[in-house]
Amino acid sequence: MRKGLGIAPLKLICSRIAGRYDLQHGLLTAKSDQRGRRMVVEKTVRAGDDVLDAGAGTGSAGLLAARKTGAGGSVTLFDLSDEMLGQARTKAAMDDVETRLVFETGDMCQLPFADDSFDAVISTYSLCPLYDPDQGALEMYRVVKPGGRIGIAHSAVPAKPLVRWLADGVEEIAWKIPSLSMGCRAVDVAPVLKKAGGHVILDMMIGVPLWPFRVLVVEKSGE
Ligand SMILES: C[S@@+](CC[C@H](N)C(=O)[O-])C[C@H]1O[C@@H](n2cnc3c(N)ncnc32)[C@H](O)[C@@H]1O
Repeated sequence: MRKGLGIAPLKLICSRIAGRYDLQHGLLTAKSDQRGRRMVVEKTVRAGDDVLDAGAGTGSAGLLAARKTGAGGSVTLFDLSDEMLGQARTKAAMDDVETRLVFETGDMCQLPFADDSFDAVISTYSLCPLYDPDQGALEMYRVVKPGGRIGIAHSAVPAKPLVRWLADGVEEIAWKIPSLSMGCRAVDVAPVLKKAGGHVILDMMIGVPLWPFRVLVVEKSGE
């Protein structure tokens, strides 16, 4: 796996592209990104849940989660970038779920929340740019309550060798244009979550052949 970018360059890139992120990501993924967000929310969030969206970006998944959790729940949108969260605030202001949202900035590899704080924790495409994706996934696992679920969508390695070779070439080019790649690469956090005791509820590949996404839902043991 390619080494991730550091926090400072990533923050700078995100601040620059925040205004066009939704359009850019949707086009590059042929809109399969939104399908991943919908699947994650559907399989992870229940009515009344207090939810953490880690690496929430412009809030596309967090707003879906806020609709699903309903008036009795809440969604904390947590991200490195104030500018990305600024876009989320703008979107939330046009939505009747605004009062269920909390916004917080920080590093998802060191979440500022106590163990077992949330009913559900989600991450859509935010583990892929992390400098330490395993640590980010373990932090999500730490802050979800026993019996709660974490739902993840992340870039994955294509299964077919020829497609994988092509995808490597595309990634090589994209990494030369950081505003395009946003430091994202294929990751695999399933092993570390299983080792932590997580029970896999859903493990599915979606997306376009050159840029597949893995949707992973894991339940925390020990309720
Ligand atoms: C590809 S975007 C995904 C955003 C959103 N979840 C979505 O579904 O579109 C990656 C997001 O992860 C955030 N991010 C990257 N590294 C982070 C870190 N260490 N802690 C918190 N957020 C981080 C970026 O600021 C960016 O908003």
